[in-house]
Amino acid sequence: MKIICSKKQIVGYADRKILGHFLEHFHRQIYGGVFDPASKFADEDGFREDVTEALKRIKTPVIRWPGGCYVSAYHWKHGVGKERIPDYDKAWRVEESHRFGTDEFVKLCRKIGCEPYICTNAGTGNAEEMSDWVEYCNLGEMGRFAKQRIANGFPEPHKIRYWSIGNENWGGHEIGAKDAAEWGKLVRESAKMMLRVDPTIELSAASIPDLDWNLNLLREAGKYLDWISIHGYWGNTENGLIPEDYNSVILHTGEDISGSVNRVRAYLKALGLEKKIKIAYDEWNLRGWWHPNTIDISNRKIQRREDDTFYREKVIAERDKNDINSIYTMADAVFSASFLNTCLGNCDLVQMACFSPIVNTRGAIFTYPDGIVLRPQYFVFELYANYLKNTVLDLWKEDVPKVSGNVSNEGKTVDIIDMIMTFDGKEYAAAAINKDPEKEQRIDIRFFDDMPREMRIHTLNGPSCNAYNDVGKTQVGVTVSEWTVFQGTIDLPAHSVNIVEIR
Ligand code: AHR
Repeated sequence: MKIICSKKQIVGYADRKILGHFLEHFHRQIYGGVFDPASKFADEDGFREDVTEALKRIKTPVIRWPGGCYVSAYHWKHGVGKERIPDYDKAWRVEESHRFGTDEFVKLCRKIGCEPYICTNAGTGNAEEMSDWVEYCNLGEMGRFAKQRIANGFPEPHKIRYWSIGNENWGGHEIGAKDAAEWGKLVRESAKMMLRVDPTIELSAASIPDLDWNLNLLREAGKYLDWISIHGYWGNTENGLIPEDYNSVILHTGEDISGSVNRVRAYLKALGLEKKIKIAYDEWNLRGWWHPNTIDISNRKIQRREDDTFYREKVIAERDKNDINSIYTMADAVFSASFLNTCLGNCDLVQMACFSPIVNTRGAIFTYPDGIVLRPQYFVFELYANYLKNTVLDLWKEDVPKVSGNVSNEGKTVDIIDMIMTFDGKEYAAAAINKDPEKEQRIDIRFFDDMPREMRIHTLNGPSCNAYNDVGKTQVGVTVSEWTVFQGTIDLPAHSVNIVEIR
């Protein structure tokens, strides 16, 4: 494939927040994930230092919390103050201790050096509860909630800038689901109250690439919003826990991802909001989380509470199967890099994305008592965060090799090579993905108005497309070449994610 680029052909400027992450009160993301006071890695605040260091290593820019489905019945006031009375979590059908609440989340973000992003309860909650949360976090000392924060040991406001109204309230699976008409009104009234507390916050609202939902939401509340929140999980779990094979995953890396962005772009354009509202893809992962028998409780006759074998074995224990590290292979790395390339290619619109989640479940970091496992997708964030530049250049591509899907994939076709070029005014960095499961692919890069002299390649790969990392087993990692003369042609190994530094 031949690629021609010019430093004058600029797509836009990448926002670092597309390398953000998500943490929910589900399974071992919080308790046993980032927060584990009994762990030998715990610091003075109970956070696992091996985890916080891994999050710093990928320059985490923003973390969204506390949910996800969890938030739609979460009352933030139960998670602050000296006394934390446990609640029954109706979303995930477990007990929530509330030992980790708003103040602990802010402490975690300060430790990592990232922005906190709070998703509010628009399921059972209301405009007043949401705006009270903004009072608690962002007012200096006015009113009862700011005074509560001070009494809880935080004299200075937390200054939380990013707030989302609701999580997936469009879906029947969500507690407190709404229809499009209800949703527009609730977002409008919640936004009004939250902005009256702190007009400087940036507001997002739960959305879906659907015309009716968005037209209603944007007509009713568009003038109050800075972001529209959409989510995406592609690897099906309908066939149980067995992950899709590598080739099926690759077929998700084209229109399946870009289509959702293009549809939202069209809605924003239709309402003249494309310059005002950006996309926060604030939950995305190749793989949906595994939690059978939780949301669909139609077979109520055999499901009961914690005193029942079915509950323990078929509801709770099933969640441990998210922790099988062999599920997460180079397919996850190639898909994640393709997703981020799509965000970069649409960097004028997609300016936040949160990998869902970052610790445990389907995350990039797996914790166990004696350490952590960095799954293949972790290294994508490490490469993109540490080597890509901020200006995204347009590319002219010729002879683009494609892979097509079989009938079961509706004959889908995706490009085998996926590449983004970035620039900082002096040096270039390309993110080049070879999705081919077996064959090396050659690219030929030409600069229309520059003569770079040398290059260095960071290659994320493993011995096969199904390579993975596990406790005591490291098959996937990054190798980096020496600086060599830049001659334009580069051979990309099969199933690899590469950052090519060019100067
Ligand atoms: O499977 C986890 C859930 O996926 C999140 O809680 C929710 O936001 C999304 O539907």
